[in-house]
Amino acid sequence: MKNTVDTFRRQKEQGDIITMLTCYDYSTAKLMDESGVNSLLVGDSLGMVMLGYPDTLSVTMEDIIHHTRAVSRGAENALVIGDMPFMSYQVSVAQAVENAGRLIKEGGAQAVKLEGGVTVTEQIRAIVRASVPVVAHIGLTPQSVNAFGGFKVQGKSTEAARSLIEDALAIEEAGAFAVVLEAIPSSVAKLITEAVSIPTIGIGAGRHCDGQVLVYQDMLNLFGNLKPKFVKIFGDAGAVMRDAFASYIEETKSGAFPADAHSFTADIDADALAAIMKD
Ligand code: KIV
Repeated sequence: MKNTVDTFRRQKEQGDIITMLTCYDYSTAKLMDESGVNSLLVGDSLGMVMLGYPDTLSVTMEDIIHHTRAVSRGAENALVIGDMPFMSYQVSVAQAVENAGRLIKEGGAQAVKLEGGVTVTEQIRAIVRASVPVVAHIGLTPQSVNAFGGFKVQGKSTEAARSLIEDALAIEEAGAFAVVLEAIPSSVAKLITEAVSIPTIGIGAGRHCDGQVLVYQDMLNLFGNLKPKFVKIFGDAGAVMRDAFASYIEETKSGAFPADAHSFTADIDADALAAIMKD
């Protein structure tokens, strides 16, 4: 059954934790979808984990559309959310609606995500009015990395926590159907989760959220050397892949691969053919 915005609403009501993973390509989308995850987020984190940028700021609409299209083709049941990149919604409300529409029309997403609270409520309102479901994102919003002075935990003071709660209430009022809470204290995430009726999806926000999201390269330990505090490694796919690549190189160089089992045969006399070729 396809997950929809209604599934999210029902899950919050029933206390059924929402699962979300980032995803950027067709084959991974198929694997995740088969595993039964509720939602796939084509995050602008793709700039860092797929394209090798130091942050998410260089990601373009074309990048996100390209990857969203691939994920949509692999996601039979999971709700696909396309992330709105830096400067694709900040400039004007009209620009925000147009670009949100592109993620649905060209990318095949069922919803979009954008960063910000009170400051982007006009954009959220207008996108929702255009019948595009919106997920908001507050706390450590990576597109504001320069304004924050680095990737830092947010909402640690009473004033900062209060401002996050106000953001969440404003987002809900503007019509977002869910909100991502990134890198905030779990006590603050709990207060937000209790204050709003829309589901909260945490990443580095503790256990009291209505759902969780992780960047899949992190939870599969694909980079090995990089493990933020909030990440749990659920499988060491990095080690499995490195070992497989090394075995391929070793067996190819030694001649163990390809063996007869990996080769095609033909019903011809190779010696006769070689003689013909010589003439
Ligand atoms: O871009 C992304 O992957 C995200 C998640 C970390 C929530 O925004």
